[in-house]
Amino acid sequence: MENNRPFWTSKYSFIITTIGSAVGLGNIWRFPYIMGQYGGAIFLAVYILIISTICFIPLMNELYIGKTTKKECVGAYESINKNFKYLDALNPITGVLIASFYFIVGGWIINYIFKSLVNSNINDWGQYFSAFIQAPVYPCILTLLFISICIFFTAKGLKNGIERANKLFMPLLAVILIFLVIVSLNLPNAQKGLEYMFKPDFSKLNFHMVLAALGQAFFTLSIGMGALLTYGSYIKEDKSLVKSVYTIILSDTAFALLAGIMIFPAVFSFNMEPNSGAGLVFVTLPKIFSNIPYGNLIAFSFFILLFSAALTSGISIIEGPCATLIERFKITRIRASIILFFIISFIAIPTTLSFSVLGDLKIFGKTLFDFLDFTTSNIMLPVNTLFLCLISGWYLKIKGGDIIRNKIGVFLFNVGLKFIVPIALVCLIYMGLK
Ligand code: PHE
Repeated sequence: MENNRPFWTSKYSFIITTIGSAVGLGNIWRFPYIMGQYGGAIFLAVYILIISTICFIPLMNELYIGKTTKKECVGAYESINKNFKYLDALNPITGVLIASFYFIVGGWIINYIFKSLVNSNINDWGQYFSAFIQAPVYPCILTLLFISICIFFTAKGLKNGIERANKLFMPLLAVILIFLVIVSLNLPNAQKGLEYMFKPDFSKLNFHMVLAALGQAFFTLSIGMGALLTYGSYIKEDKSLVKSVYTIILSDTAFALLAGIMIFPAVFSFNMEPNSGAGLVFVTLPKIFSNIPYGNLIAFSFFILLFSAALTSGISIIEGPCATLIERFKITRIRASIILFFIISFIAIPTTLSFSVLGDLKIFGKTLFDFLDFTTSNIMLPVNTLFLCLISGWYLKIKGGDIIRNKIGVFLFNVGLKFIVPIALVCLIYMGLK
């Protein structure tokens, strides 16, 4: 039995683990392809504006509520107001559903790591990728493997599992990323990729893009499923969070930018399309790796990078539901981890099969994978954040001092919680449903 709440062993542990949660497939897989779809530099400009202003509020809010209530994601809302007792259950449910598709991509990454270790003469990576995800058994095994790896670290607890994984994999991720950025920048015509990233074409600016940037910013910062709330609840010392929140936002943005600088010069150098969507990382990049010197080594480094990013985020996705099971049902962490392994696998296996034998099973016209991705990212994350902002804006009534020291800051923060962020979120949900 775990009677005592665990706490981070140091402030560094908290920061690196929260950055580990934020920096994930969202930065290295999703960010470049969404930026590619919305026209490059102009998307980046809007994204940076949003992430450095509006996102501060819900990110701070989630960590702060965790820190002050010292509750996991179920229980925190209730301690603010009894009426919200059941609303917070949406958080761990969202976590389990996100895990069920996010971890499938983790399985794909493992496959590409293996692939880069053997000399495979694949000419058509597009065809290879479709054949791979359409095979019924192998991707399921890889999904289970990825779930097991994440659960392993969760089961080992805060200090020996979660902190250790982040302290190992985050520096590795940074080093590999910098190495690959240098490789990419030295390819012929690399500057074309940089122009695409940094020279905005204002004619491409539109409302839909602004919302896509907002959705991406929330997803990449891990806002809206109780992961941050749970991480916040492990903060022992009573220090202001402002600096930490900015460090998290800055680091996450730096990782996304570097991922773009790693990918776009390579894409342009080989005259490929930057807007190939989700296949950018699994089809376009392997094509490039096959055509450069030491391609296997570079492919291996890249997929290890992707694996590290997915793992540290994956761990954080599980931690909310895990802490909930531990505290609600008074069970040990190991038992909670095993239960979660079965629940996530139970949803993830049919979802993996939605690329093959269950391809015809459609929910609202979408395959299971697309349905989970769509519903969690576009609806559940924003809805959870909407509730949390409104609850703390209207019921917690943050007086300041504990969050932001100056009066104007507190005023703006409260206006953001009560009005600005909720309005932005309602637009996001509306566009998502349209
Ligand atoms: N932020 C993670 C990423 O960028 C994904 C994530 C979303 C993690 C929500 C936890 C909660 O990949």
